[in-house]
Amino acid sequence: MKLLENPEAMRNLSENWRSEGLVVGLVPTMGALHEGHLSLIRRARAACDRVVVSIFVNPTQFGRGEDFETYSRPFERDSALLREEGCDVIFAPTVETMYGGSSLDLSPSGERVYVEAGGLGEIWEGEARPGHMRGVATVVTMLLNIARPHRAYFGEKDYQQLKVIERLVRNLFFGIEIVPCPTVREPDGLAMSSRNVNLSPEERRAATVLQRALSAAANLKQQGESSVADLVAAMREVYDTEPLVSVQYAAVVNADTLAPLNSLEGGPARAIIAARVGETRLIDNIKL
Ligand code: PAF
Repeated sequence: MKLLENPEAMRNLSENWRSEGLVVGLVPTMGALHEGHLSLIRRARAACDRVVVSIFVNPTQFGRGEDFETYSRPFERDSALLREEGCDVIFAPTVETMYGGSSLDLSPSGERVYVEAGGLGEIWEGEARPGHMRGVATVVTMLLNIARPHRAYFGEKDYQQLKVIERLVRNLFFGIEIVPCPTVREPDGLAMSSRNVNLSPEERRAATVLQRALSAAANLKQQGESSVADLVAAMREVYDTEPLVSVQYAAVVNADTLAPLNSLEGGPARAIIAARVGETRLIDNIKL
């Protein structure tokens, strides 16, 4: 397994592989790897000749006062896991190589070109975390241009991010296949996230309410309920029982546009939820 920090070296290696006819898969991550990431890597390993995993905690997708500085960076542990999974290359650039030398100006009004995520980047997570989806769209564009994969793998846990990236790749004609992968959960249902390690034992127990609320909506739908208001009320009934959890949004949306639905007749639907559990912000979603 190679470790590359330099974008040119990464691109040259990938171009060589491509010229030999090898299929390249990319799994973009911010490190602090868990079973959810490993499931993406296994998918990539099974379908591609070469697997690149990027580890880059991207500053432009964190807002002021968010956890960029404190985001977990267990690089040695991550490398050991990636070696075990048969990853071919870890691409781990520095902030300076990705965003410029000494005069680092990451403000949206500065010298840099950003990729806007459009309307899909303004709602839900975009509203709660202004600039977040622009940061994601920008860094994913950079990573795809550097690693030049045929396929890139993203988890459905970050459902809105996945939809933004699918649209980005389609709208800007990247010619790369985006492979969505199911959310991996702890035995008690909590969606795996690098931020779960920040939860105290009490918060960790309380955090399962996100998945329980989503399941309440999915079960109701399964029983034939078609009123969106009733599904949203069912979610609220569950999360209101948990005082340690402050829900920011819980909604039933169109699975493609993420527009709030009035009725389940309006196409494939998804229930989405975001909440603060103590200082930690968590998101989750479920197919309805
Ligand atoms: O999901 C993540 O870990 C990040 O948002 C991503 C896609 C690696 C971009 O920084």
